[in-house]
Amino acid sequence: MSCTAKRNPGDVTVLGIETSCDETAAAVVRGGRHVLSSVVASQDELHEEYGGVVPEIASRAHLERIYPVVQHAMEQAQIGRDGIDAIAVGHRPGLIGSLLVGVAAAKALAWAWERPIIGVDHIVAHLHAVSLDTAREPEFPAIGLVVSGGHTSLFAMRSALEVECIGRTIDDAIGEAYDKAAAILGLGYPGGPRVDSRAQRGDDRAHDFPVARLEPGSLDFSFSGLKTALLYAVRGTPTGRGAGATFERDATRLTGPQIDDLCASFQKAAVGAVMLKLDRAIGQRREAGGEMIRSIIIGGGVSANTRLRAEAQALADRLHMSLHLPAMTYCLDNAAMIAGLGCLRLEAGLVDDLSLTASPAGLY
Ligand code: KG4
Ligand code: ZN
Repeated sequence: MSCTAKRNPGDVTVLGIETSCDETAAAVVRGGRHVLSSVVASQDELHEEYGGVVPEIASRAHLERIYPVVQHAMEQAQIGRDGIDAIAVGHRPGLIGSLLVGVAAAKALAWAWERPIIGVDHIVAHLHAVSLDTAREPEFPAIGLVVSGGHTSLFAMRSALEVECIGRTIDDAIGEAYDKAAAILGLGYPGGPRVDSRAQRGDDRAHDFPVARLEPGSLDFSFSGLKTALLYAVRGTPTGRGAGATFERDATRLTGPQIDDLCASFQKAAVGAVMLKLDRAIGQRREAGGEMIRSIIIGGGVSANTRLRAEAQALADRLHMSLHLPAMTYCLDNAAMIAGLGCLRLEAGLVDDLSLTASPAGLY
């Protein structure tokens, strides 16, 4: 495969493609952080009536949208194929049918344009989102936290490319818990932003929902107990088990202020759980006497959450550490984070070839 003219480090320009779930996205990023374009075609309206993402519908929609979305990203960046040094694609983890569309499109472009292809891990890319469109670079070593619809994971980070997972959820991801909470409360899909905005009007002391601690010292997360506690608070204790269980009450009987209070109490417990483990992870590293942790890096859809952003800032201030959160547009799935991390991989010589495969399972 022929390579492009050598550019100065900091000038490499990468086209990124992201199709891991229900957003079809393409972006052009220069030097790892200057976003020249970022296009995201959301499929929310296609999945809303089902209350969650339907994989077959998602992959078909990606297929219809991928070409116009890439074309739009190239036009918005005012760049031609000669200006692109490599094609990066989110190739794991995610819905396999969705990932395959992005990987096939990236391979076709890499082959036709004679450029390297770079497979990027979607979860690690969420952490890189904090470096997009800002001059504020995180210092390493750092502790990373990914809070998304599919993941709740803690990382020890030596650099944006060298990450080690030190904690993960043992059941639901936090974003998934938010979406299920919204479904229980009849707020629709996607639930996270709706629960967040209702929570701001509610009283977070109205219900005492559990914060899962797990074993002493554990850096893992659990959100299924919180989800069940919310369900019981809304509908009463069930009689019978499983699909045959009957509840005392119906969710539709809740008043607006009652929903606000439930959202606020749920949010307090959900955010409290991640802050507890983030604080614990930093404490453990400090006690171990290793190299000083310099920054806290948070990414993923739930990093858009109002309370999480405020509590993370309070924690960082208390620990005298710098906090790095993505700009709101880069919290949710996007291709700029894929292209940005793709630039760093290209500069480090970490490129793939046309044998790159999509993988539904993640490493973290
Ligand atoms: O990172 P993301 O776009 O997709 C995955 O990689 O999963 O995250 C989507 C998740 C959804 O569960 C959505 O409900 C949640 O992020 N989310 C929020 C907020 N905005 C999005 N959760 C809580 N508060 C928000 N403001
Ligand atoms: Zn994501």
